[in-house]
Amino acid sequence: MRDFVAQGTEALAAAGVPSPVREARRLLSLAAGSPAAVLGPAERVPLCVGRRYRLLLAERMRRVPFSLIAGETGFLDFDLAVGPGVFIPRPETEELAERAIAVLRSLPPRSLVLDLGTGSGALALALARARSDVSVIAVERSPRALACARRNVRRLGLVGRVEVRRSDWFSHVWERFHLIVANPPYVARPELASLDPEVRRYEPRRALDGGPDGLAAIRSIVASAPEHLVAGGTILIEIGDGQGERVLRFARRVTSLVETRVERDLRGRERFFSGRCG
Ligand SMILES: C[S@@+](CC[C@H](N)C(=O)[O-])C[C@H]1O[C@@H](n2cnc3c(N)ncnc32)[C@H](O)[C@@H]1O
Repeated sequence: MRDFVAQGTEALAAAGVPSPVREARRLLSLAAGSPAAVLGPAERVPLCVGRRYRLLLAERMRRVPFSLIAGETGFLDFDLAVGPGVFIPRPETEELAERAIAVLRSLPPRSLVLDLGTGSGALALALARARSDVSVIAVERSPRALACARRNVRRLGLVGRVEVRRSDWFSHVWERFHLIVANPPYVARPELASLDPEVRRYEPRRALDGGPDGLAAIRSIVASAPEHLVAGGTILIEIGDGQGERVLRFARRVTSLVETRVERDLRGRERFFSGRCG
């Protein structure tokens, strides 16, 4: 087992994969269908596991993200199916979910929540799980993401609580919400080329590309948000580091939102814009 991890680590490091030891162990666990620790350091690895491990290593060396190889990823305290063409949720979005859950706790019974650009359904599902009396509408434009989100709704037993709807942002949204969340595409187009290969090659471009300055989707969502919030309703969206001042200025100039603010994530980067409908 140790040799397998050592060889895998070397191969992954040569391909530039970050945290190669951890990745080699995760891939071996995936190949074996059990945690690597369970195999034991000196245990012999069955031939079929070794073969599968080499195939998985080759994929990871091409910089295919681990979650895409595994077909699922963790988000907060649950697992989500992911697949090609569907954005893999990030740790900073777990922070967004935690902030949204804190807002959710203060909402009246049977509140309505909107997740714009739901991808795998991560935020919508986290919110529906956090409070059993709220209903969530999760909108998305990508057919592959829509199918994935619907699959996750079924997997987590939330049919009837989370509606997955095809919509270009608010184009097919007529309701008013107590809470709107979004993790829109916010990478400035000139920066797309410098993203990690895992992101640049395997994440859908439409999940990343925020236009020339990264703010196209954010502007569109923020500008329309007040028409879709109940009085006192909250919008909470993820933004990119360095975008805070421009998003605040835009929101204050163009919308009637009050209490607009930008807060930082755990790594100290500007990450969350929020505002309330006055
Ligand atoms: C950064 S990903 C976030 C996905 C998911 N909310 C998450 O946090 O993991 C942005 C998502 O917005 C979707 N999207 C992009 N443009 C859209 C539009 N005009 N209308 C609806 N969804 C859109 C993309 O397909 C993608 O799934």
